Amino acid sequence: MRSVLVTGGAGFIGSHLVDRLLAEGWRVMVVDNFDPFYDPAVKRKNIAPHLEYSNYTLVELDIRDMDTLRERLSGEYDVIVHLAAKAGVRPSIRDPIDYQEVNVRGTQNLLELAREWGVKQFVFASSSSVYGVNPNVPWREDDCVLLPISPYAATKVAGELLGHVYSHLYGIRFIALRFFTVYGPRQRPDLAVYKFARLMLKGEPVPVYGDGSSRRDYTYIDDIIQGVRAAMNYNATPYEVINLGNNSTVSLLEMINALEETLGVKAKLEFLPPQLGDVPQTWASINKAEQLMGYIPKTEFKCGIEHFSQWLCS
Ligand SMILES: NC(=O)c1ccc[n+]([C@@H]2O[C@H](COP(=O)([O-])OP(=O)(O)OC[C@H]3O[C@@H](n4cnc5c(N)ncnc54)[C@H](O)[C@@H]3O)[C@@H](O)[C@H]2O)c1
Repeated sequence: MRSVLVTGGAGFIGSHLVDRLLAEGWRVMVVDNFDPFYDPAVKRKNIAPHLEYSNYTLVELDIRDMDTLRERLSGEYDVIVHLAAKAGVRPSIRDPIDYQEVNVRGTQNLLELAREWGVKQFVFASSSSVYGVNPNVPWREDDCVLLPISPYAATKVAGELLGHVYSHLYGIRFIALRFFTVYGPRQRPDLAVYKFARLMLKGEPVPVYGDGSSRRDYTYIDDIIQGVRAAMNYNATPYEVINLGNNSTVSLLEMINALEETLGVKAKLEFLPPQLGDVPQTWASINKAEQLMGYIPKTEFKCGIEHFSQWLCS
């Protein structure tokens, strides 16, 4: 039985990945501290079905706590998928030190443990935010314009760079996946799709920062999981940074329209000034993901929003 350590496995992306790994028969160990960034009860609900599996183990602890990580984890993993992080661009501006502690020191702790344990494959959740306001779209991994504009984005750049060090020095294969705005059932409640849908259903105003023309490359959760699974198997080179996006962009107003259609309600829009740290657009080139890992996103935005809305209203 293949064995995997998933950090952040109670969260949005992590719990979907664990669904898939358990279905495939992996021995799964999850580390998560049920961080209160959003209601931990949501994460308890995410993991409830996993607790039924005998090949699933949950270890509740903080990735900043190196001694306890060393003490409580078996170390016998074929691969580590490191998803635990303080997520979110705007909150990182209010709380940059905590972001650096969890996202940078926490990542280095996991890399150190991978070295001590002799784990040979490490998949890291990076982010489209590392590209900053790069005007050269679609964004390619070999584009040297890495000018992050939020503490969160800078921590993800740091994680990618630390991964290169450990890959070079210790032969740990390190795959950094730059996720582009992930959405779908169980989405983080702080993210726009979920936040807006909730407000619309309650008949409350939807805050639109800027004029609504900012664009995002939204990626459906099943496509992201397809990419993470492919990265877990990837074995051609020792270090790669790979975009996982949809390669098609949707404006904020188009996203709201799609929600209006599927939820059957009209949004009350409240236009507000643009927010610090937000980039005007994100757009992934996914050629590299396709060439190296056979990654092809399958879910069109409208279809993904329908799945999300069905889940929300169920
Ligand atoms: N969702 C997106 O659109 C998106 C985009 C780009 C990158 N990412 C990255 O993907 C990863 C997963 O994101 P998500 O959307 O599932 O977020 P999430 O917040 O739902 O999941 C993160 C999990 O990490 C856990 N965690 C946080 N701090 C921890 C700590 N100190 N110790 C142990 N566990 C801790 C949280 O409790 C949570 O369950 C993150 O690294 C995030 O930065 C997400």
